[in-house]
Order: sequence, then structure tokens, then C-alpha cells
Amino acid sequence: MSETRGNLGPTRVAVVGTGNVGATFAYALLLSGLASEIVLVDANRARAEGEAMDLNHAVPFTHPTRVWAGDYADCAGAVITVLAAGAGQKPGESRLDLVKKNAAIWRGVIPEVVKHNPGGILLVATNPVDALTYAAWKLSGLPPERVLGSGTILDTARFRYLLSEHFGVDARSVHAYIIGEHGDSEVPVWSLANIAGMRLSEFCKVQGLPYDPNLMEKIFVQTRDAAYRIIERKGATYYAVAAGLMQITQAILRDQSTVLSVSSLIGGYYGISDICFSLPTVLDRGGVERVLHLQLNEEEQAKLCHSAEVLQATVKALKLD
Ligand SMILES: NC(=O)c1ccc[n+]([C@@H]2O[C@H](COP(=O)([O-])OP(=O)(O)OC[C@H]3O[C@@H](n4cnc5c(N)ncnc54)[C@H](O)[C@@H]3O)[C@@H](O)[C@H]2O)c1
Repeated sequence: MSETRGNLGPTRVAVVGTGNVGATFAYALLLSGLASEIVLVDANRARAEGEAMDLNHAVPFTHPTRVWAGDYADCAGAVITVLAAGAGQKPGESRLDLVKKNAAIWRGVIPEVVKHNPGGILLVATNPVDALTYAAWKLSGLPPERVLGSGTILDTARFRYLLSEHFGVDARSVHAYIIGEHGDSEVPVWSLANIAGMRLSEFCKVQGLPYDPNLMEKIFVQTRDAAYRIIERKGATYYAVAAGLMQITQAILRDQSTVLSVSSLIGGYYGISDICFSLPTVLDRGGVERVLHLQLNEEEQAKLCHSAEVLQATVKALKLD
């Protein structure tokens, strides 16, 4: 574990963008009691103020926490700044369609955050999260271990949930990852998926259940396309991503060395470099402690290389250099 970094003052977490995702994360953070200060920053000041008021009224039911609507200067000293500002995914719009809109916002937001808080960690939630994590790294000038994105933490959770429903075990007992892009080119790592250390086909054999690869593929497609299905119904997704952001925040604030599938700068993995996407990653108080290089089968390697190519094309379109 890293040497604990930072000051001995209150534990501050900043949230930039207090719409569905930012506000739901702030609420989850307040309930957790992990932060003693939560600052909310939004281009729509009234929105941030309203959220701060509402959250403050929950303080008597939760934990002593200072919550306020602030400016970028208030990000100073934050251990983590969660970035959830920007446009959401519209029905029928792919995550990659969003990139130019949100990258323009990034050019304004990232330098402001870093000017006031050069020592903190940036945690990106805005989509397309991988391209924007890479852009945040480039625009911030921060070391790569302090710039990460929620990546496939959500897809991995959806995958584990759906597998758990199928196999009839607690989702926490299903160990399976979605890696690569948070989006259409994401990759399920079937070769390493397991329950109680047994590969899924072996688990079925032992349990006397049929193992149907076509059904597994359907579960993956449901996982990959879940956001589209939710957005069609309720216009946005936010509870699960906020819970994922909480897992990441907890791993960092409590210096836990937790392995989570988050997006960060990748170097030298199956020939893939200079891109942000998700692999299981050890997170501690310093941010990314290390990225775990999984041993993939050939099909998975090819799919991951394709995912990297998709992302490289997107990032190139942003002209960050
Ligand atoms: N990573 C994931 O797994 C995941 C999951 C769900 C949503 N998201 C993404 O999170 C982002 C936010 O979604 P949402 O539903 O909360 O959207 P939202 O529209 O509810 O909130 C966005 C907020 O950003 C603010 N904003 C816009 N420009 C800003 C700027 N320049 N500076 C500060 N604030 C600014 C808006 O005022 C608004 O309050 C979207 O990009 C969405 O696609 C990511």
C-alpha cells in the first residue's frame, strides 16, 4: 500500500457536475460518512445550491458533514474530484457521439480544477468515459496514477448481476470482468469468469446445469446494452454508477488496495499503449497503484485490441496534442 498522502485536515471530496450522476454520488457519499466535506460545483449554480441544501437537510440523519455549493477554488485540498459534468446520453445516441460535446467542456473544467488542486485525484464519470479520462490526463498534466475513470466498473457490476440471476448465487460471489471500453466495444472475460474458483462451464457441470454459450452471449449483450434500455425507459442512469463511484472513492480514501475495473492509462499490454480503458486495477490512497495484466485467450485479446483501436480513433478526433 502507498504511504498515506495528503494533509491531516478534513477529508474533502469535490463533485463537478451535480446532475443525476453527481448528485446521486454526493448523496451516497453523505450516507457513507467517508467524507467530512463535500463541495458541489456546477455551471448551473442554482442546481448545485439546491442539491447542497437538500443534502444538508439529510445531515442530521447521517453523519456530520459540511456540504456546500462552491467554485473551482473550493476544490483545493480535495482528495478526489469526481467529474460528472456534461451532457448525458440521449436515446439512440452512442457514447462515442457524445465525445466532442463533452471534450469542449473538459477544456474549461480540467485546468480550473488542477489550478486549485494540483495534488488531488481526478475521477471521471462523464461519457464517453475512457476518452474523457485520457483527455483529463492530457489536459491536467497530472501523473497518470492520479487520473482515472469509472470505466467498466458499472458494466462489470451489470454482468455480475445478470450472471448471478442466471446461476442463482449472490452477485458478490460471481467473479467476472468486463474490460476495455465502457461502451459498444467492451469485452467480457469469459475465460477467467468463475464462481467459487470454478469456471462457469465447470460450475454448471458440478451443479448438474446445462452450460449454454448462446445464453452466455445473450447475458453479455444485455450487459453491454443495459444503458440504452434504461435510458429508453427513464431518460438516464445514475444509481449504479454512483454506487460504483462510491466503491472507487472508498478504495482510495481508505487506502484499501481494492481491485476494481476502472479506466486509466494503459502501457504495453498486448501491444496496447497510450490509451485509457479498463482492466482490473489496484486502487489505494495514491490512486492507481497498479493495473493487472490479465492473461486473455486469443479471441479476448483480439476483441480488446479492437476496443483499443475504437478508442484511439475517438481520442485522435479530439486533437489533444
Ligand atoms: N461512466 C458511467 O458509467 C456513466 C453512467 C451514467 C451516466 N454517465 C455520464 O455522466 C454524465 C452526467 O450525466 P447526468 O445524467 O448526471 O447528466 P445531467 O444533465 O443530469 O447533469 C450534468 C450536469 O453537468 C452540468 N454542467 C454542464 N456543463 C458544465 C460545466 N462546464 N461545468 C460544470 N458543470 C457543468 C450541468 O449543469 C448539469 O447539472 C453524462 O456524460 C453521462 O453520460 C456515465
